[in-house]
Formats: sequence, C-alpha cells, structure tokens
Amino acid sequence: MPRHSDFARFHALLSAKPRILLVCGAGLSASSGLPTFRGAGGLWREYSAVDLATPEAFEQDPGLVWLFYAYRRHMSMKANPNRGHHALAALAQKYDNVFCVSQNVDGLLEKADYPLEKLRKIHGCLYGLKCFNEDCDWRASNSTDDPLWPILAPASADVDSTNPIPLLDPAHPAPKISWDEIPKCPKCGAEEEYGLQRPDIVWFGEPMDDHVVRDVEEWIDGGVDIVLSIGTSEVVNTAASFLYHARSNGAIYVNVNLDAALPHHLGNLDQDDFAFAGDAMELLPKLFEPIIGDV
Ligand code: APR
Repeated sequence: MPRHSDFARFHALLSAKPRILLVCGAGLSASSGLPTFRGAGGLWREYSAVDLATPEAFEQDPGLVWLFYAYRRHMSMKANPNRGHHALAALAQKYDNVFCVSQNVDGLLEKADYPLEKLRKIHGCLYGLKCFNEDCDWRASNSTDDPLWPILAPASADVDSTNPIPLLDPAHPAPKISWDEIPKCPKCGAEEEYGLQRPDIVWFGEPMDDHVVRDVEEWIDGGVDIVLSIGTSEVVNTAASFLYHARSNGAIYVNVNLDAALPHHLGNLDQDDFAFAGDAMELLPKLFEPIIGDV
C-alpha cells in the first residue's frame, strides 16, 4: 500500500483527536447525479463558467441566467445525499473537532443533516434569492418552489430527448425571457431598475460574505491538524486559499478526488500527506469509519 494512500496510516491519525477541516467541491455530489463543473465529467465543458455565473451575464440576459439556475435548482431538489454526504454528516454529529467549508450550492449536506453550525457555504445556496440592486439588502432563503416561477418552467421539465434542457444543448435556443418578466425585488423593485430577484449565489468577480470568511479564517487560525480537499479542482481561489492557509499552518493534506493519482496531484504532496483516488461516495465512509462506524 503506497504511503500516501494508506488507510491504516490515516486511521491512526484520527486516534489523536485532530482538528479536521473539510473543503468540499462538486465532486462530493457527483454520485448524487449532479454534474461537476470541470475535471472528471464536467458540466461546463461546453460552457465557460464565466458565461453564466457573473453579474455581467445577468445584466445582459437575466432570463438565460435564471434558466440555468432554475435547471440546477430542479436537479438539486431531485437529488439525494450520497454516502459521502452521510459520512461527513455522521462525522460532524459524532466528533467536535471538525469544520466544513463547502463550495457546493446544492443543499445536499443539509439534506444529510450535516450540523449547520459546523458548515459554511462559501458560494451561497441555490434556494436563496437576493436583490440584483447592490444597494438593496433584500434576501429570501429556502425558496423551494419548482419551478420557482412559471416563466422558468422549461428548466424544470424533466430532460428527455423531446425536451433537452436548452442550456445543455446549444442546438436548442433557450426560451427568451425579458428583463420585465423577471420578478421584482419586493423591497426596491417598484422604483429601482436593477431591483430584480437574482440567485443568492456568489458569482465570479463577487466577494464572499465577510462573516463567512471570518468564521473560516478564525477556525483555521485555531489550528488545523488535517485538511481534506474533497471533490474539488482547487482552481477557484476561495477554497484554494483556505487549503493553502491550513497547509501553510502545518496541516496534513488529504486529497479525495477521482483524479488524485494524477501526477499533478501526487507531485503536490508532502511526506505525511495523502491522496485517495476514487469516488468521494466510496472513500469518505471508509476514511472516517473509526469515528462514524458503518455508514
Ligand atoms: N468523487 C471525487 N471527486 C470527483 C468525483 C467523485 N465522484 N467526480 C468528480 N470529481 C472531481 C473532479 O476530478 C474535479 O477535480 O471533483 C472535482 C470537481 O471540480 P470542479 O468541477 O471544478 O468543481 P469545484 O472544484 O467545486 O468548483 C469550484 O467553481 O464554477 C465554480 O462556483 C463553482 O463552486 C464551483 C467552483
């Protein structure tokens, strides 16, 4: 068993009650049927992520951006947590020294009853809404109507050959939704042109919530013995910065990724680090079995 993929060596670390930081990405939800963005099986291989997840894209075509998010809401609502989500939830329920930073907006850790006080979602949540007017603080959470509004019904129709989701099939022009059809912000929409309801997601070029960043940085500053990078390409600097911060403070790095055995990952390991190549759904229950038992 190579040193960096030795489960027994990882399990031995757990007996010392280490402080464990979890940094999760789309790969954690891949086996729940939700496409990732890059890497193994990416959703956006036909699209650049920047095409649709920016304020500029929303200003240019709010209907197209809403159709894309409505599709992801629909997919996430139909999806169930997998054994990887349940393993992390069991870990956080049974073990105090753990904290999770998730880039995922799909709500599956919450569906698995992951303790919310030990979770920070740094990119928001698909079920949150906010106002597009930067000067307005209106927000709404847990908006789980599907479709959210009648104009978004095409994105909630289940995909089959007769109705491929337009955004995943460029051959099908997306339904045109005008600016005026987008529901207004209940607080400022009557007088503000930009008072439209938008997804409460952190888009490219937008800052993360200060309070969330502060919570994560404070937890890391309290010391991290083991940091797990779970199903993330580590290319978006929010999560990458937390991983770097933990590692530079001496944390043992554990990569849990389909691609973990690739040279660019293995070349990134220190002597005591780990790289477990495979499906997070299979690996996480095995990695934390000494604490969570059989999940
Ligand atoms: N198990 C483990 N890892 C997996 C699995 C799986 N079943 N399936 C895919 N992966 C890995 C891929 O190899 C890749 O390294 O998960 C990673 C997914 O990477 P991305 O698609 O880039 O997702 P993520 O890292 O979460 O993206 C970060 O970018 O587009 C933005 O806001 C979006 O939150 C997202 C952010």
